[in-house]
Amino acid sequence: MGKERKQMQTIQAKVNPRLLTKASRLFTGTLEGRIIEILQNARRAGATRVEITNQPDGMVVVQDNGQGIDDFSKLLDMGGSGWDETLENSEDPAGVGLFCLAPRQVTVRSKGQMLTIAGDGWTGGLLTIEDDPEPVQGTMLCFQDEPWTSSIVELNAVFSGLRVIVNGEECPSLPFVSEKAVEYPELGYRIEVCQTDQLDGWHNSSRRGRYYSEDVLVNFHGQVVTFDYRPVTDHDLRFLVDLTGEATGIRLMLPARTQLVENEALGKLKSVIELEAFRFLQRRQRHRLTYKEYLRAKKLGVKLPEAVPTYHVGLLRGDDPQPAQVIMPEDFTLDRCYRFNLNCEGDDTDEANAHLLAALGTFETPFVPVDISPSYDGYSWANLPTIDRVEVEAGKKLHEGYIWSGTLVCVESLVVAAHTSDGKVFRSAVPIVIPPEGLREEGHEHETVVYVTPNAREHLSDSEIWHHFDGWNNGGDSYETQAYQFSEDLDRFWDQLVGPDEHLRRRILEQLDSLTGWQSVHVHADGRVVIRLKDDTEQALVPPDVAG
Ligand SMILES: Nc1ncnc2c1ncn2[C@@H]1O[C@H](COP(=O)(O)OP(=O)(O)OP(=O)(O)O)[C@@H](O)[C@H]1O
Ligand SMILES: [Mg+2]
Repeated sequence: MGKERKQMQTIQAKVNPRLLTKASRLFTGTLEGRIIEILQNARRAGATRVEITNQPDGMVVVQDNGQGIDDFSKLLDMGGSGWDETLENSEDPAGVGLFCLAPRQVTVRSKGQMLTIAGDGWTGGLLTIEDDPEPVQGTMLCFQDEPWTSSIVELNAVFSGLRVIVNGEECPSLPFVSEKAVEYPELGYRIEVCQTDQLDGWHNSSRRGRYYSEDVLVNFHGQVVTFDYRPVTDHDLRFLVDLTGEATGIRLMLPARTQLVENEALGKLKSVIELEAFRFLQRRQRHRLTYKEYLRAKKLGVKLPEAVPTYHVGLLRGDDPQPAQVIMPEDFTLDRCYRFNLNCEGDDTDEANAHLLAALGTFETPFVPVDISPSYDGYSWANLPTIDRVEVEAGKKLHEGYIWSGTLVCVESLVVAAHTSDGKVFRSAVPIVIPPEGLREEGHEHETVVYVTPNAREHLSDSEIWHHFDGWNNGGDSYETQAYQFSEDLDRFWDQLVGPDEHLRRRILEQLDSLTGWQSVHVHADGRVVIRLKDDTEQALVPPDVAG
């Protein structure tokens, strides 16, 4: 293979002046974006006060008391800035901010000079700097825009450290973090962890339509940028990061500057946030972290207390319809409860029956199973004796019927026994169980089958039974309608249990419920109904065609 020698060719990036012609479309096109850029310039110029006036003719005038402009050419130097080195290191100016006002006509006045930028002045045309007949202090910008109302300015001024006055009224000014913030001078920020409910309205997400439930709020000298980062499962925490003006690697993504650049500094910030989150929880002495996170904190040198015992009483859950509830007696302690052994053979069925046993059985000492997420395994409080085996005994079958989404079987009696790892057996009669495999007919192993005893009718609510038939189907009728239909199905089932005629008898009696003072009712095949009342008078209901 002959390697041919190629002539080396080199290229180099360059900026084509055509870019300048697109300046007005390259940068932030929102009012908020313009406010941010202009306030930022004032602050960078060392201003402490910015006065914004909306004039009746639609002009907006912004005047700051900063150092002013010596070199007007810097204003339109795309990519170039006139700020000092400290600022270069902390804020990394891009030299594009002022172009957010393009293609408007803008008059800039400072240090006895003034310049009007308009039309092709934005895109390379020659501009003339004039003497200012009425020199102003600091820098003054004047341009046509929609009103810079205080409600929009406020949001971008409150944490800027500037006194900002809109039409004569001063905007609120607050520190972004409290004295409790931890300083990271080498990284250029300070950071404070707080609980969501402790944040004031200015930090609150709803006020700044831009961020919703984001956990990290970064204050770039007034401009708040947010992102989602959840180093710990405590959803209640918010992280406030306040840039100090010291050198930092945290950068905003151009041109919108509403997002952080994914760089090394951001990675470092995330690890700082994680550490500070653990330290916050350590100071608070209360958390619900998983055991894995607890170990992670330990590895980072933060010794946390154990998580607050977090458990759910009972083993079954459902919004609605709920299963029969397991109640933990008052003064009962978690260490006397049981967890379900997930290696238990009959798994789901056993879990359901252990729950039903606890909810509906009667015992000398309470039997309280609890559900604890396996992510808490490792904490001492999560180490409870377990329910290892569940047995069900069913009496003679009395009746069976298909209702809702499965088969309901009524048997003479039901007894459940739960064997626990501490050598106990909790055994009781119950009105309902889910038949384990051994009780199911062949071929029906995976169908919904529920066993009840006759007294389930009295002891359980319809919805407690409905729970075991998959309950509400959210693609169908309303909850109430479906609950009613299930109750109808169930009523018919109970009636059929009494005998084949019972359902009809009850239905007829139900219909006569509103009729008072009758002793007998004769229904004839031709549709006539003759009611004999207690006073021996008769009343006949006659169908229309017989009457006619
Ligand atoms: N209010 C002001 N006071 C003094 N100088 C200003 C003011 N506004 C702008 N300047 C000068 O004009 C230059 C250009 O401003 P512009 O906002 O376009 O870019 P920048 O602030 O350097 O960078 P960025 O793109 O981050 O805003 C600034 O570098 C600064 O020298
Ligand atoms: Mg700027």
